[in-house]
Amino acid sequence: MILAICNSKGGVFKTGTTLNLATLLSSYKPILVDLDSQKSITYLNNIRQQYSKPLDVITVHTEKELEIVINKSTKDNLYIIDTGGFDSSLTRIAIITADVLVSPTSGNVVDLLGLNRFEAILKELSEVKGETIKTNVFINDVSPATKKFDEIQDFITSSENFNLLNSIIRTRADFPNAINKGLTVKEFNPVGKATIEFKFLAKEIELLLSKI
Ligand SMILES: Nc1ncnc2c1ncn2[C@@H]1O[C@H](COP(=O)(O)OP(=O)(O)OP(=O)(O)O)[C@@H](O)[C@H]1O
Ligand SMILES: [Mg+2]
Repeated sequence: MILAICNSKGGVFKTGTTLNLATLLSSYKPILVDLDSQKSITYLNNIRQQYSKPLDVITVHTEKELEIVINKSTKDNLYIIDTGGFDSSLTRIAIITADVLVSPTSGNVVDLLGLNRFEAILKELSEVKGETIKTNVFINDVSPATKKFDEIQDFITSSENFNLLNSIIRTRADFPNAINKGLTVKEFNPVGKATIEFKFLAKEIELLLSKI
């Protein structure tokens, strides 16, 4: 199976999501696929080796290398692709071929504008694929004090290309503190709020994978 973490807007937590799902979906023995031109996952996996065992990471540079990954995908394995914060032919192939798409976004205006542009890309790719491509959006990096999300939720649910997940991930220091060591929040602070919130997201994603 292929799970693509995607959003053409940069800095919305694609790499953080990919990394954290590695340990929260560990029962699938996931292989992380690094499509990002910055190669963040590959870099973090190197840092991580000072603190823990390396994760299973494949670094992809070319369409041919991506094709090899796609051809190896079966119902019994899981590739999680960090697609990078840009629009490229590699990202587009990942989006078209993925079984499940997941997109983090914050609620700030600039990120919502980015989501709007991403919607236009999904519409273009839906034409190519001949079916509506839907990504599962979750709201990330919102203040722990925020209680109402009506405007963001309305914005997301108004598009046929977006399915809004129930999970809401708050701004938590555990995320950058764990990432700085190449670790996931589950490894860094197993009982912390970041881990609890991310576990809920992983459960929602597992449910999506179970429907493939
Ligand atoms: N919920 C959160 N709590 C705390 N920090 C967060 C949260 N979400 C994102 N961040 C921070 O935002 C920054 C960007 O995250 P990340 O690098 O995963 O984004 P990205 O989408 O992969 O970026 P790019 O498009 O450049 O690849 C990181 O420093 C990360 O720690
Ligand atoms: Mg990234």
